[in-house]
Amino acid sequence: MKKEEILLMVKEVEVQLAPSCTCEGLALHGISHLRRVSILSGRLASAVGEDVEAAVVMGFLHDCARTDDKAGDGHAHDSSVLARRLLGRFYPHLDADRICHAIARHADGEVTDDGLAACLWDADRLELKRIGREIDLDLLSTEVARRLARARAARRAVLIGGGHDGKS
Ligand SMILES: [Fe+2]
Ligand SMILES: [Fe+2]
Repeated sequence: MKKEEILLMVKEVEVQLAPSCTCEGLALHGISHLRRVSILSGRLASAVGEDVEAAVVMGFLHDCARTDDKAGDGHAHDSSVLARRLLGRFYPHLDADRICHAIARHADGEVTDDGLAACLWDADRLELKRIGREIDLDLLSTEVARRLARARAARRAVLIGGGHDGKS
């Protein structure tokens, strides 16, 4: 699926779901974080052949019940509970069990063989850079996410070094 189609899908999902998310207004985990993870989750799903709509909706819901920016995985459980309610109401055709299981475990610091869960977990981890944390390639579940992380790191190195070879 083209990037523009995924962006359009994320916009529609945001209109539908954002009013029910408790994380609105948070500095690090607010709606803009949900939006970025949703886009990336959808793009990873498209790249690995998973259901893009499920990945986009799951990406948007993964932190939906957060009430603060603190660490801790209670929010993952809470978000899976709220996500199940919202899936039943707005997206009853999607696999709520698979999506909610992925959301409930997204903060456990593991990798997964489940291709759909991998899209969310990798998208969220690729977002860690925004809070100044380095991305651990061993904690990414898909090769496409590892390639993306390496490419971003290489671009940053060029920016920091200005493309200078250090010889003069
Ligand atoms: Fe989270
Ligand atoms: Fe997150």
